[in-house]
Order: sequence, then structure tokens, then C-alpha cells
Amino acid sequence: MISKLPYLLLINGPNLNRLGVREPGIYGTESLTDVERSVRTVAADYGVEVVAFQSNHEGKLVDIIQEHGPASRGIIINPGALAHYGYSLRDCLADIDRPTIEVHISNVHRREAFRQNLVLSEVVRGQIVGLGTLGYKLAALYLLQTKLMDTAEGNVSQAETMQGGEEH
Ligand code: DQA
Repeated sequence: MISKLPYLLLINGPNLNRLGVREPGIYGTESLTDVERSVRTVAADYGVEVVAFQSNHEGKLVDIIQEHGPASRGIIINPGALAHYGYSLRDCLADIDRPTIEVHISNVHRREAFRQNLVLSEVVRGQIVGLGTLGYKLAALYLLQTKLMDTAEGNVSQAETMQGGEEH
């Protein structure tokens, strides 16, 4: 167990270690460290920690999600290009079955055709696309503000949104 406090698992896939310097016209100038820090700040208000990993290797991401996903309160994942063809990542998320929000900094639907195929869609709770790095914080807020059912069938209709003042 990596954290004693409840935690969100924040996963970034291939090339996202280059955030801030990589194609800044598309992905902006914030670094991955900046992104991780801002998600930690949001989560801290709810007494929740953030366990963050980035890897350029699909199998490594599978290892990390298998190890740290089951005990997490939820998963935020920007799979990078694995979003378009990462079937072992998809199967891993289906197996681990934690509430997962997929984030894409850019609007993949307005880009090349290959980016419009999103193979994780069926196994994630929701997707935030094209809102820049703010998408990570919005994903965290969803997972933090929504009391999610722990069942395999857990879905939005079974989710109970917590109102201000309730346990965070
Ligand atoms: C991305 C979009 C992917 O198509 C691309 O391969 C990335 C980043 C995004 O955040 O917009 O690496 O996931």
C-alpha cells in the first residue's frame, strides 16, 4: 500500500513527460510536474492524496494500475497515443474496475483521424477532451465530489453526489 490516506491514481502515458516543451501550441506550456502539483492541491482540500506515475511503456502502466489501482479512490488517466490502440491498457482498466476518467489535453476529435478512435471509451466513466491541462483538475473534482459505488456495475445513475459540508 503506497498511501495510508485515500488516494487518486494519476497516470500519464507516452510522451507526457515532455509536457511543457512538447508541441506547446497543442499541449500548452505547463509541465507534468505543474499538472501533478495542481491535482494534488485540489485533492488535498478533500483529504485525499495523489499517487502519480508516468511511463512511456504500456506494460509498465499496466503493472502500475494493477498494483495501485484497486486500492485507489479512482483513476485519472491521460493515456497519450495508447488511447488509440492500447488494448492491454484497456483490458487492465476493465479488470481493475475503478472509476476512471480519461483526460486528453487537446481536442482529439478535431485532429488527425487516427486520434478519433478511443479504445478506452467503453471502460472509463467519462472523458474530458480538449480543455487543456484544466481537464486533469476537473477529473479530480469529479472523483472527489462524487461518492462512487464500489460495485462492478457502478455507474453514474448509482453515484451519489456529495453536497458541500459532507465528508470529503
Ligand atoms: C493526448 C492526445 C493523444 O492523441 C496524443 O498521442 C498525446 C496526448 C492529449 O492529451 O491531447 O500524447 O492524449
